[in-house]
Amino acid sequence: MMQSSEPDNLARSETNKMKKIRVLLLFGGQSAEHEISVISARSVYASIDTSRYEIILGGISRSGQWFLDSGERSLLEQDEVADGSGVPVQLGAGQPELVTLDGPRVNVTTFDVVFPLLHGPHGEDGCVQGLLELVDAAYVGAGVAASAVGMDKELSRAVFGHAGLRQTEYLVVRRNAWNADRAGIRSHIESTLRYPLFVKPVNLGSSIGISKVHDSESLETAMDLAAGYDIKMMIETSVERARELECAVLGNENPNASVIGEIIPGAEFYDYTTKYIDDRSQLIVPADLPEDTKTDIQEMAIAAFRAIDGAGLGRVDFLLSPSGEAFLNEINTMPGFTPISMYPRLWQASGIEYPALIDRLIELALERHQETRHVSLNR
Ligand SMILES: Nc1ncnc2c1ncn2[C@@H]1O[C@H](COP(=O)(O)OP(=O)(O)O)[C@@H](O)[C@H]1O
Ligand SMILES: [Mg+2]
Repeated sequence: MMQSSEPDNLARSETNKMKKIRVLLLFGGQSAEHEISVISARSVYASIDTSRYEIILGGISRSGQWFLDSGERSLLEQDEVADGSGVPVQLGAGQPELVTLDGPRVNVTTFDVVFPLLHGPHGEDGCVQGLLELVDAAYVGAGVAASAVGMDKELSRAVFGHAGLRQTEYLVVRRNAWNADRAGIRSHIESTLRYPLFVKPVNLGSSIGISKVHDSESLETAMDLAAGYDIKMMIETSVERARELECAVLGNENPNASVIGEIIPGAEFYDYTTKYIDDRSQLIVPADLPEDTKTDIQEMAIAAFRAIDGAGLGRVDFLLSPSGEAFLNEINTMPGFTPISMYPRLWQASGIEYPALIDRLIELALERHQETRHVSLNR
């Protein structure tokens, strides 16, 4: 070893200490939760530890175009990422970088990790995650398969069933089949499940296209409504007078479960209006529950997260029947992330403040990227 290299190494480690982690915060997106995503992104931008991280703002418009912030957080100033609101940008080929074309010049923006703070279809369903995999980027949250399975209620139900997790009874009907034989399908539904029922599009979220159905007459309308949003519809037994409970999961290989929160929708169910428009719904953290119910729900939340092969974060939602039985309803792999959203609130109540939660998620993203590298091709 040459002694003269020592001062050099020291100098280098000093610069390493100072080098900030460059986080590409992706927000907006093509789903109905575009505006929620913008609000979540503002919160992350305002709370992230700027002594450790440098944020690059990447907005995705409703039409799917990507924009880089052209000034100081101007992309976050509007409720929506509009087309033309920043510098058009695209992901580099095979490398974790963003590329903008400025006449004949090519500008490259590099980043160390992506926080895809996008909800719903084309954000939380594996599509963006797949793009990020292709450029070998580290990113916060679930991978391609877990995101896709988490978004598809039919696939997640199959995986949860395989893991032995308690769920309501359900059927899945394809739109083509429904349109070909409405009477036959109606009698099949009615001979298999008992009213009241819930009818949902399989791949959506935000309660869009979901109806509660009390009788044969309204079943048809509900099926048509859901069929307007998806090629698959799910029909399931209603858990009547259910309490809606949510548990947050954080981690990769050995995830932890938070305390449990409760939502009081203030309507017949937690529909789109109660979620986003009026403020009748109430979030109670922590929920008042018997010890064994808490344990049951936390164990199921971790099992559900593991079953879909989740990573980073997930919010697992339950319906608790009046007799005390908890049914697993769904997992959200990129839950709402404003400081008043359930996911951060559950961690705050479990001892992790919002900025520390962001830190931990970035750390988990980098760890997972490291761990999965050796299984990838040509790396
Ligand atoms: N089987 C059910 N029993 C009782 N309520 C339900 C049932 N399924 C859905 N709901 C109600 O509908 C809401 C939305 O359903 P959910 O499956 O969570 O769809 P989304 O993915 O759109 O959030 C739930 O939060 C709950 O209020
Ligand atoms: Mg839900």
